[in-house]
Amino acid sequence: MNMTFAAPCIFGLEGICANELKFLGIQNVRAENGRVLFEGDWDTLAKANIRSRYAERIQILLAEFRATDFQTLFERVKAIEWERFIGMSDAFPVKGRCLSSQLMSVPDCQKIIKKAVVTRLSERYMLSWFEETGSARQIQFLILKDKVSILLDTSGAGLHKRGYRADSNDAPIKETLAAAMVELARVRPNHFVTDPMCGSGTLLIEAAMKAKNIAPGLKRYFACEKWSCVPKDVFARERELAQSQIRTDISFRASGSDIDASALETARHNAELAGVGDLIAFERRDIRDFQLSEGYQTVITNPPYGERLLDLRAAEELYKVMGEKFRREKGKSYTVITPDDDFEKLFGRKADKRRKLYNGTLKCQVYLFLS
Ligand SMILES: C[S@@+](CC[C@H](N)C(=O)[O-])C[C@H]1O[C@@H](n2cnc3c(N)ncnc32)[C@H](O)[C@@H]1O
Repeated sequence: MNMTFAAPCIFGLEGICANELKFLGIQNVRAENGRVLFEGDWDTLAKANIRSRYAERIQILLAEFRATDFQTLFERVKAIEWERFIGMSDAFPVKGRCLSSQLMSVPDCQKIIKKAVVTRLSERYMLSWFEETGSARQIQFLILKDKVSILLDTSGAGLHKRGYRADSNDAPIKETLAAAMVELARVRPNHFVTDPMCGSGTLLIEAAMKAKNIAPGLKRYFACEKWSCVPKDVFARERELAQSQIRTDISFRASGSDIDASALETARHNAELAGVGDLIAFERRDIRDFQLSEGYQTVITNPPYGERLLDLRAAEELYKVMGEKFRREKGKSYTVITPDDDFEKLFGRKADKRRKLYNGTLKCQVYLFLS
């Protein structure tokens, strides 16, 4: 069965997300604002869920149409072949968003869509009441500038939940964003990677997982694995293949340090859970005592921003320290994310590359300093 899928992603990461899906051999990949669309079958769906490092979730795009009134919304949703995905006893909650559209009431759109699905399924199954006691099919809708997308979520928990971060410190970076920073820093399986403000270690863990080619979704489940329409073995097959492709022949090494001893405990624990504990050494150190290593070194870090952990002035003091410590030297590169527009001034150097993106709701930039 050929389907169209949507992979919502962090704004600013559409290109990286699309390239990854293309690299996985997926067809008709096209990047849009905040999401990537692609085509495929159930195998494609399993592959994207298990292997994408940058997508927030994978949805089946069931219909796209223009609607400015409830009647059109109802008719178009009712026309979808819901019975292909939803069985008689399955649950099918509806949620979504309306942005810059004539249909702006989320609760009303939710009700209309639910009614349309119930009407369709009542006709197909000859039922007037749905118990909804079975596994869930989360219906999602997006109405953007009067264009309606009707989607079925297949992931369940967001794909940033890899299964290794049970514990978290105060301000962990989202795994999908950490993976994107690793990609922007061009980390390779023979690199030595350092994060001198590593917190719970997310950047280093994502770097090590990528170097080892550990699929990010290998250790978790996806909502659609419970669906009767999904062939039994697709996820098992993809997991087996991904497991067999883990690399053991790499010279990748990483070191993480932080001023906070409890964050380091968490980092060690998370690295073990992620299967990369042997590749990363953690130790307690103030960035003021940071020393560059001999030879090639890729530094990636997510320093405090001021809003959340320290006051802005203290954070900015740290950016000056980083500028002194992160010297321009052959073989060294530095990748830093911060929302502070004065970062380059405080750091004392103009970045060689910059990328705008969002860290949650915070507009940030990733700054790349090359040797
Ligand atoms: C935004 S958090 C990093 C979060 C991390 N990327 C993660 O995923 O958990 C910033 C980190 O900087 C650390 N930090 C603050 N001041 C520091 C200093 N002077 N030296 C080293 N680390 C420091 C904090 O303890 C905190 O863990």
